[in-house]
Amino acid sequence: MKKINQSLLIDAARRARLNAHAPYSRYKVGAAVLSSDGRIYAGCNVENTSYGLTVCAERNAVAALVAAGGRNIVAVAVVADSKVPVSPCGACRQVIAEFGPHAEIIMSNLKGSVRKKTLSVLLPARFKK
Ligand code: THU
Repeated sequence: MKKINQSLLIDAARRARLNAHAPYSRYKVGAAVLSSDGRIYAGCNVENTSYGLTVCAERNAVAALVAAGGRNIVAVAVVADSKVPVSPCGACRQVIAEFGPHAEIIMSNLKGSVRKKTLSVLLPARFKK
C-alpha cells in the first residue's frame, strides 16, 4: 500500500480551515480526505444562523470527494486551533466510515501536535444494516 503523505494532507486541511464559516462558535475546522487514487479533497465547517444546520469540516470534505466521483477514503486529516489535536465528532465518524471504514484519522492542531488512530478504533460497532 502507498505511504500516506501526512504533511500534505494536514496542509490541505489547514488551508481549508482558513475558509471556514464559523461566526457563531468562532471555532474554525479544516479537513482533508485522501482517496485511494491519491486525490485530496478538502472541507471546512460551515455554520448557519439556524445553528443546528451547521455542517462539520469532515462531512464537507467527504461530500467534495463524493461529488467529484471519489469513493474510497484512505486517510482523513482534521485541524483546529485546539489545545489537543481535534478529534472528529461521532456523526462525522459514521459518515467517514461509509467510504473508509479502516481509514487513518490524522488529528492535529495549529501547534503541529498530531495524533493518529484508525477509524475502526475511533468508531467500533458503527451502524450497519
Ligand atoms: N466541528 C467540525 O467541523 N468538526 C467536528 O468534528 C466537530 C465540530 C465544528 C462544528 C462547529 O462549527 C464548530 O466546530 C464548533 O462546534
